[in-house]
Parts: sequence; C-alpha cells; structure tokens
Amino acid sequence: MIIRPLRGFSRTLAVPGDKSISHRYALLGGAAAGETVIHNYSSSRDCHSTLSCLEQLGVGVAVEGTEVHLASRGKAGWKQPAEPLDAGNSGTTIRLLSGLLAGCPFPVVISGDESLSQRPMKRIIDPLRKMGAGVESRDAGLPPLRITGGALRPLVYQPSAASAQVKSCVLLAGLSAAGRTTVIESKATRDHTERALPLFGVPVDLEGSALSVTGPAALSGAEVTVPGDMSSAVFFLAAALMIPGASLQIKGVGVNPSRSALLQLVRESGADVAEKETAHSGGEPCSTLDVSYSSRLTKSFPAEIRGNLIPNLIDEIPILAVMSPLLEQGLTVRDAEELRVKECDRIKAVAVNMKSLGIMIEEYRDGFHIPGGQEYTGGAVDSFGDHRIAMAFSIAGLLSRDGIEIRNPECVSVSFPEFFEVLDSLRD
Ligand code: S3P
Repeated sequence: MIIRPLRGFSRTLAVPGDKSISHRYALLGGAAAGETVIHNYSSSRDCHSTLSCLEQLGVGVAVEGTEVHLASRGKAGWKQPAEPLDAGNSGTTIRLLSGLLAGCPFPVVISGDESLSQRPMKRIIDPLRKMGAGVESRDAGLPPLRITGGALRPLVYQPSAASAQVKSCVLLAGLSAAGRTTVIESKATRDHTERALPLFGVPVDLEGSALSVTGPAALSGAEVTVPGDMSSAVFFLAAALMIPGASLQIKGVGVNPSRSALLQLVRESGADVAEKETAHSGGEPCSTLDVSYSSRLTKSFPAEIRGNLIPNLIDEIPILAVMSPLLEQGLTVRDAEELRVKECDRIKAVAVNMKSLGIMIEEYRDGFHIPGGQEYTGGAVDSFGDHRIAMAFSIAGLLSRDGIEIRNPECVSVSFPEFFEVLDSLRD
C-alpha cells in the first residue's frame, strides 16, 4: 500500500463507533438479563471477536450493519462453550471477559492470535486468583488462559499498571463476589466501564480514586448508543492539523475527558479546533469537531509528554510520534513503558520505522525523543501487524514529499476496517 502525499483538503466525515465502549456495552449486555440494543457498534474486528465469544457462551447475537441485538438470560444462563473462546487480537476482549468468566461455575479456555498470545495477563491473573478464581496460563502469564470460576470473594485492589482493562476486569469479577470490590487507581485511566455499568442497572461508587461495585449484582438489558471513536478520529485530525490549507469536520466523536488529552493538548497549543456537543449518549459525551491547519500548532506544541497524561492518550502515541518531526521542538515521550506490551512493541516499531524513513529518533525504555525540524521524504515502513502503527505511518505518507509504502496494512481492520477508504476520500 503506497500512501501518496496530500496537500490541502476540506472534508466532512464520520468514524466508526468507539471500540472500547462497544466492547463494554456488548459484554454488559451479554451478561444482562433481557434484550440489549446497541446502536453504532464498532465495525472493528476486535469488537466482533467479543460478539463471537458471547455467542459461544449462549448469548443470542444479531448484527445488522452497526446495530447489535443481544438476547440473554443473564450470566447465570451462560453455558460452557464447546470450543475455546477466541479473543483474536483483542486485549480488551480477553481481559474484560476473563473478569466475567471468573464468576461462572464452569471451566473455560480463552485464547488469541499470535500477538495477543505474547501479551501479559499476570496483571489480571493475580487479582482474579485473589478473588478465588482458578486461572492457569501458558508460560507464567501468557494466553491461552484456563479460567475455572465460581463463588468469588470481594477484593480491594491497587493495580500496578495504569490499565483500564485491569480495572475493568476486577470490577466485572466484583459483580459476582458477595460484598464490595474496590479498585484504587494511582493514575486515572479511561472510565467507560464505570460510566456503562449504571446503564445496565449496577451502581458504581466513586470516592477519590477508589471505585467500588457491590455484588452479587444482576445486570438488566439496555438500549445504548456508541459515540464515534476518538482513537480512530485522531489520524484524520492529525492530517488536518499538519497539512497546510486543510480543514476537516468529524461528526459524532466521543469526547470523554479520559480519552481526549490529545485534543486538549492541540487546543492549548493554539490549534484551530471548534467543538459542538451533539449528544450525551449513555453518559458518554459526543461532539462534532471542526479542525483546520494552523502554523501555531507546530510552534507551540509541548516538547515533552509524561506522567499522568500518558494513560489518557496511550493509544494516540503512534500518531503523536508521526507528528513529532514536524514540530519545532520535536517531542519527548516518557513514562509510556506500557507501549511495549500493546499489539506490538510500539516504541520499537516507531523507532524502526522512523529510522527507515531517515528520521532521527532516540529510543528509551519508556518512550522516545524525536528532534524537531525534520521532514518525511519517503520510503517504506512495516505495520508490525499493529493497526495503529499502520494508520499512523499512513498519515506520515500524506505528510511526505514522495509518498510512503506501508507493508502489511490489512491489520487496520482490527479497529478501523474502513480506514483506507476514508483516507482515499480525502483526495476526491
Ligand atoms: C483499553 C485500554 C487500554 C488501551 C486499549 C483499550 C480498554 O489498554 O490501550 O486500546 O478498552 O480498556 P490498557 O488497559 O492495557 O492500558
């Protein structure tokens, strides 16, 4: 796939439903008694892995375009699947579903693709075992997992990694524990689970950085709408912000504050960003965004990003890296060691690709430094099978002088199957 350079453009577009929120609505709807209707469900392969797992557990699943209907007798009605569950490439599927399976009275095996099979699960195995679930893994903490659930004990847990998946796993297991389960976060992570639970009839208590649910809790079916995915929108936002003469409107994007640090940063750096709130669907704020190129952004974007900001833009770091050579001060990212255990080692993937494009980069254990004032001429990069690496470097292609070849681009379907069509539509 060769991405040719793009000069000024003016477009209106929409992005698919948010992946993180779609997973949660599907899992909660599948665990709820009654019917659940999800509008604007993500078209991503990951979110369809979640639906297939639910189907194997006996949940009725009907998909019509982006509308999903779930029919369930509640988690108590789930049956032992005949085959291992397949989470595909999806960390959210395996980690959140494991929380629910920990409360089921039968053994289940849950596995994933080659990339997921290398991702750390000890972070969920430890708390689930403390709650009384049996969890076996391959090689001390790698999938497949064999979960033998049952009656669980409540837990007060402080995860060592800043991870919304770990927080959510423990809270979802807490639904099956008799008593109050609490997760205390040292760095705040995306809060979709705690926003979603009340929609399905389960209150969540929030005291400072401690979140609690009280079990056993019965979920009830709901009708919910997923906002557009900010983590998909950012690729096109970045293109509009960095290409002289560009302007772009994106409709219906989720602007949950725990997901929109990048938007906040570009706004504080003087970029032209107008936001009009369109709906507040199911506790998730949603806006239409109008952005256009402004030379102010490259002059005043911060030189360093670290600390509490990182979990809030963890999935946006590949596109931030792609913007960095064009920023006057360049960019240093620290405290982002979690990037090493995403769909690929994203720090390494960014470093390898930048070097093959002739861009200077210094790699750190927990981030990187990319000096400013550099330009993309052209060349070839690899996706490393990681959707966000493929999409981020496609934007580098738009920003380049001669175009950039993306090897193994098909992985974009993991989060955004329509990505290349939308990208092409910028040229029409
Ligand atoms: C996600 C949480 C984040 C994020 C991932 C989706 C979620 O992962 O990187 O893409 O849906 O909860 P961690 O929980 O591992 O930080």
